[in-house]
Amino acid sequence: MATSKGTIYRIAGPVVVAKGMQARMYDVIRVGKERLMGEVIRIEGDFITVQVYEDTSGIQPGEPVENTGEQLPVELGPGLLGSIYDGIQRPLPVLKQKMGDFIARGVEAPGLDRKKEWHFKAIAKKGDKVREGHVLGEVEETKGFIHRIMVPLGVSGTIKEIKTGDFKVEDIVCTLDNGNDGAKISMLQRWPVRRARSVKKKLAPETPLVTGQRIFDILFPLAKGGTAAIPGPFGAGKTVSQQQLAKWCDADIIVYVGCGERGNEMTEVLTEFPELKDPRSGLPLMNRTVLIANTSNMPVAAREASVYTGVTIAEYFRDMGYSVAIMADSTSRWAEAMREISSRLEEMPGEEGYPAYLATKLAEFYERAGPVINHNESKGSLSIIGAVSPPGGDFSEPVTQNTLRVTKTFWALDAKLAQRRHFPSINWLNSYSLYLDALEPWFVKNVAADWRILVNRMMGYLQEEDKLLEIVQLVGSDALPEKQQLILEVARLIREFLLQQNAFHEVDTYCPLKKSHMMMTTILNYADLAQASLDQGIKIKQLLDIKAKDRIGEAKFDKDYARLLQEVQQQMQEEFDKLARGGRR
Ligand SMILES: Nc1ncnc2c1ncn2[C@@H]1O[C@H](COP(=O)(O)OP(=O)(O)O)[C@@H](O)[C@H]1O
Ligand SMILES: [Mg+2]
Repeated sequence: MATSKGTIYRIAGPVVVAKGMQARMYDVIRVGKERLMGEVIRIEGDFITVQVYEDTSGIQPGEPVENTGEQLPVELGPGLLGSIYDGIQRPLPVLKQKMGDFIARGVEAPGLDRKKEWHFKAIAKKGDKVREGHVLGEVEETKGFIHRIMVPLGVSGTIKEIKTGDFKVEDIVCTLDNGNDGAKISMLQRWPVRRARSVKKKLAPETPLVTGQRIFDILFPLAKGGTAAIPGPFGAGKTVSQQQLAKWCDADIIVYVGCGERGNEMTEVLTEFPELKDPRSGLPLMNRTVLIANTSNMPVAAREASVYTGVTIAEYFRDMGYSVAIMADSTSRWAEAMREISSRLEEMPGEEGYPAYLATKLAEFYERAGPVINHNESKGSLSIIGAVSPPGGDFSEPVTQNTLRVTKTFWALDAKLAQRRHFPSINWLNSYSLYLDALEPWFVKNVAADWRILVNRMMGYLQEEDKLLEIVQLVGSDALPEKQQLILEVARLIREFLLQQNAFHEVDTYCPLKKSHMMMTTILNYADLAQASLDQGIKIKQLLDIKAKDRIGEAKFDKDYARLLQEVQQQMQEEFDKLARGGRR
């Protein structure tokens, strides 16, 4: 569409109404003399409503507006990894360089560096018939990471020319004959962020996203290509959880969208992330990470756009055949941005002032997740993990509720657990994963045949404990039958040794699945030996005194956990044997 020009008619905060111009929904508009960037969000006759991504103060009616004819795009290509962007993909370090800490308006900074050269190695050959998504060549974008340059979606033809060599992102690396004018392909592609990138086929989830966080991996696993919500009140552990996932989950690529809760929170992310080491490779974690940072002082519309920018970048890496995980912290800030814009538009408010389309927007976002077969036949996956911060921790509010409706894993943070310093403060009774059945074969094949049986027994003890605790509150635990006292003890071992995990301890921060399995086995070993002893008339008091069981927790902090747990099991067996022989020690 040709560009078209008009003038500003009215301004209300981030919303500007323009007249005398042609536009489609979501066209990108340059507003005012300073050419602030904005997006069409409503068309009524001759009046075009634009949400502007930058501060509009001082802009006057009568100033010019111009329609670029393009929908809010994200730039895709080498140079994404390691970047730190604002909500509309302007690199923060470049912005900072251009104008210091204070982000001035109307600054254009492209998402991908135009001057940097990349070594493009052609994979496809002259004469090849190629279609959308087909891999034309490769660039080693960061050490060891291969960025696949693909035929843009919607393009196909026969390769007329393709060259290996050093190129800038806008240089033509391949030309196609397609019966018409032909197509010139560079390493830079653009894609409208609000539209999901298409795939050949969505698959059913069958592989877990291994996080190294015991409570997630054992009780509430997330699938590669799955969706999860982490709701929790302020201070309950959303950010620590999201960052643990970013550091440790076994996705190839991480996209982290931070919508600052507190002013300094994003600053922490911005200073900490670049320092982090990838635990697997020892290289900087940023080598496989894209960071999108919104501070609360950035304009509301840019915050609204940021999750779309993030998920589109994530889809692009998925298209190459990688597993990608995106963390959004917190999606409540995104929903609030929607609410603010909707109220400026004087739309009919829905629940708690959120727009009526809140549920649809959330659903559309999470629907972009999935394990897939790409157009180029490679397999990829996109997992989406959204933190939610309900005011006052009340999960009945609309953002939490509408998120729960569409996400399949629910990690409920609990302020009471956080107060008791039980971390991660995931409530094991309220949380759930709808992937347990689908992932069971994977765990059985890759970890242990009895994985699911152990998991069910863990959950069984925790649920029994919850029922018994009501009675304990009335009469005290000594009044319980011995069998039930034993259940309480086993549940305690599970809570303290298995569920609690210290994100800040160098060993405990990551727990391999084999280790989780061995810890479960050892706890259940105690449970079974103790139950058998009870049946033989040994007193609960003596079973609670078994020393070896209290050493299971040491495994959390021990790299050589296998040796330790073997030793513990042996000691435990000896203690039980002694009880059996003497009845007492
Ligand atoms: N897994 C964990 N291990 C250790 N400490 C934790 C863990 N999760 C949370 N915490 C503690 O709780 C504090 C608040 O967590 P944070 O993630 O910032 O909360 P939120 O983002 O929900 O406001 C952290 O600063 C940290 O001290
Ligand atoms: Mg937080």
